[in-house]
Amino acid sequence: MSADLELVTLEEAARRTGKTPHNIRDYIQRQRINKYNRQGEQIQRAKSGELRVSLRELRAFLGHVQQATSKHQLDGLHDELGFHSVPEHQRTKHVHRLHPYLGKFIPQLVEWFLARFFSPESRILDPFMGSGTTLVQANELHLHALGIDISPFNCLIAKVKTDQYDLIKARAEILDIERRVAALNTAQHATLPLFPEDDPAQTAQSLLAACTSDYLKAWFAPRALAEMLYYRALIPQYTYQDLLKVILSRAARSARLVSHYDLATPKAPLPVGEQYWCQKHKRYCTPIDNCLEKIHAYSEDTARRLAAFARVRSEKAVVVLQGDSRTLDIRAALTGTPFADQRFDGVFTSPPYVGQIDYHDQHTYAYELFGFPRQDALEIGAKRAGKSKRAQEAYVEGIAAVLRNVLRVLKPDAKLFIVANDRFNLYSQIATAANLQIVQRFERAVTKRTGRGDDPYQETIFEMQQAAAT
Ligand SMILES: C[S@@+](CC[C@H](N)C(=O)[O-])C[C@H]1O[C@@H](n2cnc3c(N)ncnc32)[C@H](O)[C@@H]1O
Repeated sequence: MSADLELVTLEEAARRTGKTPHNIRDYIQRQRINKYNRQGEQIQRAKSGELRVSLRELRAFLGHVQQATSKHQLDGLHDELGFHSVPEHQRTKHVHRLHPYLGKFIPQLVEWFLARFFSPESRILDPFMGSGTTLVQANELHLHALGIDISPFNCLIAKVKTDQYDLIKARAEILDIERRVAALNTAQHATLPLFPEDDPAQTAQSLLAACTSDYLKAWFAPRALAEMLYYRALIPQYTYQDLLKVILSRAARSARLVSHYDLATPKAPLPVGEQYWCQKHKRYCTPIDNCLEKIHAYSEDTARRLAAFARVRSEKAVVVLQGDSRTLDIRAALTGTPFADQRFDGVFTSPPYVGQIDYHDQHTYAYELFGFPRQDALEIGAKRAGKSKRAQEAYVEGIAAVLRNVLRVLKPDAKLFIVANDRFNLYSQIATAANLQIVQRFERAVTKRTGRGDDPYQETIFEMQQAAAT
């Protein structure tokens, strides 16, 4: 078996294929190729010096990528905008991985456009801010940035990513709250100030008894839920409360009673302790029963990511507004911010696609935990609204209304870059309805990073300008 696979070390694989060991690790992480031990058995974790990859698998994968790339070049796709060779750690650099978010764009795409079409000190607006990728990258490039999103939780993520921190204090708070939650399972619990009962089991019971969310009770094992509720109860005692909320949400997402391979869109919770065949780990697994190990995993990681962003963060203004970008009075909402009475030089944004994602639903656990007001009904292009002709018409109206609204705060010659998968050919109509002209289109291939398939799909970046200004 090993002979067929042609097992080699990462370094050897890199040398034989003209890649770097980093690239090879990235393919493993994205599950494009498997991990083996020296005996040719597939493994999850390798002991030191044991990890092997299959040259055959690697060559097959690279051949497939090459074919896809050539096809895309023939289709007129932009060479530089595929970002195929950007490794996972750069795609998720610093704060971009503070919390998972389905539908975010790759930071390198934002960088590419902002660096070419704007200069430091420019003011950039993203009316579909999502998790704040545009804001983070604009800040790194010394541009000022404003983001607007309908979802309060997305606004929280974006704000936490772009806030400035006293890093020593932030780290101390992150680790302190983790220590206190860990103590919920030990005798030290008696010393915790918030819950004076001397019996940890009693504290856990009273937290669980006070929980009124059916969702939380169904999707978490009792121990996991007690830890989450305890963490949540402690948050008001700290300075960086939003940051702690994001860490807890991230941990909660991974602590749901779901299979390991289905974290992004699980349909229903699994029974506590029930074994299932895990497509990710290729063995029987049981759903997680606690949240603490996830809190632990993400606490240190978050502190490290904040520190990494602090090294490249500029002092430029970043403002996050929660609201419906069709109707929000942006000018009024900016009163008292660094953008009061200012006009913006451009837009860089990726609107929702038609009927693809329910943006609130993907973070239901966070809405249930923190009680943020849900605004699902105001989402443009929501999945639940479908892709019918009627849904497409509503989409055109919605996106055009957003563009018309943001034009009120843009300079007359502002450039708008809109990243869209225009499979229904709606963007010409949208441009007309917003009195904009499409100046240029950049076609790019997107390789799905999280899915199991390697099928790239196509995205267009529309450059638009006000019709009168061109
Ligand atoms: C494709 S995502 C943007 C992702 C973002 N580029 C990122 O990297 O995280 C689209 C966003 O539009 C937001 N959205 C949908 N309808 C909206 C509306 N009416 N007003 C403001 N934001 C809206 C959704 O909540 C979602 O976060």
